[in-house]
Amino acid sequence: MNKHNKGGLLMKFPENFVWGAAAASYQIEGAAYEDGKGLSVWDIFTRQKGAIENGDNGDIACNHYHRYKEDVQLMKELGLQAYRLSLSWPRILANGTGKVNQKGLDFYDKLIDELLENGIEPYITLFHWDYPYELYKKGGWLNPDSPDWFAEYTEVVVQKLSDRVKNWITINEPQVFVNLGHKDGVHAPGLKLGMEDLLQISHNVLLAHGKGARVIRETSVQDCRIGLAPSDSPVFPATKSEENIQAARRASFSVEDKGLWAINWWMDPVILGRYPEEGLKIFEEYLPEIKTDDFKIISEPIDFFGVNIYQGVCVKLDDKGQAVPAERKVGYARNAYYWPITPEALYWGPRFYYERYKKPVIITENGMSNVDWVAVDGKVHDPQRIDFTNRYLRELQKAGEDGVDIQGYFHWSLMDNFEWAQGYLERFGLIYVDFETGERIIKDSAYWYKKVIETKGEALYA
Ligand code: FCB
Repeated sequence: MNKHNKGGLLMKFPENFVWGAAAASYQIEGAAYEDGKGLSVWDIFTRQKGAIENGDNGDIACNHYHRYKEDVQLMKELGLQAYRLSLSWPRILANGTGKVNQKGLDFYDKLIDELLENGIEPYITLFHWDYPYELYKKGGWLNPDSPDWFAEYTEVVVQKLSDRVKNWITINEPQVFVNLGHKDGVHAPGLKLGMEDLLQISHNVLLAHGKGARVIRETSVQDCRIGLAPSDSPVFPATKSEENIQAARRASFSVEDKGLWAINWWMDPVILGRYPEEGLKIFEEYLPEIKTDDFKIISEPIDFFGVNIYQGVCVKLDDKGQAVPAERKVGYARNAYYWPITPEALYWGPRFYYERYKKPVIITENGMSNVDWVAVDGKVHDPQRIDFTNRYLRELQKAGEDGVDIQGYFHWSLMDNFEWAQGYLERFGLIYVDFETGERIIKDSAYWYKKVIETKGEALYA
């Protein structure tokens, strides 16, 4: 039976909507020094005293490198249709370019086979922050050759895997590794650079995306789909008045408010082939040289608008009709990471992106850190994660009903893992991991998600 909401609309997800979960190489693989893998900037950064909570690192993490078969069985048990994984660039090219580390590439080859044999569609992210340390020593993303380095790595991967992999994401959250890694120094490589350097890096990252996207399209042996996964904290209106919606829309794409975090600073070049005017004005004195062909390279056509959304910002109108953050309710809901729970972000974000970019939307990450532990009955009960996901998914579904082409949802994360500067403090998984023994326990939320998948979303309204 289809359920209807108050307005009498069908509460259904599109027929081909993809239900998945996501994880990233450095956060789960471990085997940091095995089988010829080169160093990544995260291997080096985690050694710095005080860089990571509790002095944690990803040397072993979930030991997925050795336990991947078991992990794929768990995915199958959860009924996942798709798994978004990332590849470790220095595992495949120890120096970042040049000689291929065959054992490293073979690991992904076997993992892809394992996924497909179990009916799980791989979505590969080529770069999720574990940058080759050897390239960092050559200037990293500041080096004018850095886009070509990424293209070379992409070609190696696509040649090997494109007979089986159809869905590609070039880069995860450029805003985060640029701002946290190169401006605030709290993520690898731990730099605190000035605006000129940051804008040069951003431009190089965009060129890398474009060159990578072209290589994928030209090298893939089958039709494929390409996207990027920027992060965003969508701005949403406190009321449904047209003025408030318009103000939220404007604030969503305001480089003045959001600086290098603004999603349109990244996605306007990729989809519209230009930087946003407002940003060009604000950054005027720091802009890098932009060559005539750059935007042609950067705006290589992509197929979907991937986006990672955890929280949003509610705005109201002030007396001048400007958007200002609405006060949060006293005692507002938040997760264990202190991020506010704002399900509306999954309605308004996709709606605003779709209006502006007209690309199908895939939520490439969404989820929450919870205070999970193993209960006396040996299980992991996480009702908050169930309610969180339920609320966010309902909003996404509503966006679909209101005309947004929504094509998929990847829960972050498949399993608890190394949460960057927070180390192992934050547990985002559908599967609990004991980091001492490596034992995995399927959480209640994962069994619930399984039902959501089986019923194509109808279980959300059960
Ligand atoms: C995102 C990252 C992902 C994970 C989640 C919680 O910013 O892409 O690796 O850390 O946040």
